[in-house]
Amino acid sequence: MTKKIFMTRRIPARAEEMFREMGYQVTVSEKDGVLTRDELKEVLAETPYDAVASLLTDAIDADMISAMPESVKIIANYAVGYNNIDVPKAHERGIAVTNTPEVLTATVAEHTVALLLTVASRIAEGDRFIREGKFVGWAPMLLLGTDIKGKTLGLVGAGRIGSEVAGILHKGFGMNVVYYDMKKNEALEALCGAKYCATYEEAIAQADVVSVHVPLLPATHHLINADRLALMKKSAILINTSRGPVVDEVALAQALKAGTIRGAGLDVFEFEPKVTQELLTLENVVVNPHLASATEETRTKMAEMVATNIIEVLEGRTAPNAVA
Ligand code: DGY
Repeated sequence: MTKKIFMTRRIPARAEEMFREMGYQVTVSEKDGVLTRDELKEVLAETPYDAVASLLTDAIDADMISAMPESVKIIANYAVGYNNIDVPKAHERGIAVTNTPEVLTATVAEHTVALLLTVASRIAEGDRFIREGKFVGWAPMLLLGTDIKGKTLGLVGAGRIGSEVAGILHKGFGMNVVYYDMKKNEALEALCGAKYCATYEEAIAQADVVSVHVPLLPATHHLINADRLALMKKSAILINTSRGPVVDEVALAQALKAGTIRGAGLDVFEFEPKVTQELLTLENVVVNPHLASATEETRTKMAEMVATNIIEVLEGRTAPNAVA
């Protein structure tokens, strides 16, 4: 029987090419946007798909998994994060869940550093200043930023992406690195002399730049809350390229407004795609529409990885990127 794949949205063509080379039948959602819960349920009920390629914007919760046909063997998420999927529920139904690790590490790390430099050097503010016709000539005190060279980076989470960010900022900018993670990361310590802190608080309080790299779990929801923001130096910058709900956005807006921290760079938002309105009234925050992995090269590699995971499972082998 021809194997049937459903893709909840168009991703780079490489995935579809790989499915077609295998002789699979591919259906891509025709909607120009995220399918609603009801639309996705309806589509899945219509056809006995063997695999679903999902996005981080699809809520694949217990209810959605229960609504999937018996035929579904794998849900392949087009993202490294998979907080949108109820993995235990999928496993209970015998459905494999996969993600796209490693191929996006360097790209997300580059984007994290770009956000940091944008905030530190006030690049977005300068851009707005010129477009608003305010530039009348060089001035000694105009939009003064802050250096990052030789300062301290505090990693909140030191997995693959956090470690890559630390490597760039240590080698390129001479930053000292402190970090907290559930486990010590000896490779990171060897890479850049990173110092392990006993708690998140210890890392946050010492840092000039706090960069967040934890997955979204019940334990990491609002990890950066009012209390931890209050521990940050007044001169410090917060960068978040992980998941929005890790940061309490209202508390962050208050800290930025009161000037108890210097600035923030955000690629992700607590109620994405909505952004806490107050943040948008502040000059000292740079916002980006969840673009950290968005390069042509990386998004193509992610598409290839999604297809490989699906093909491996449908051909009776183990998915290379199955999540536990
Ligand atoms: C991911 O892969 O989890 C990223 O957030 C997508 O850009």
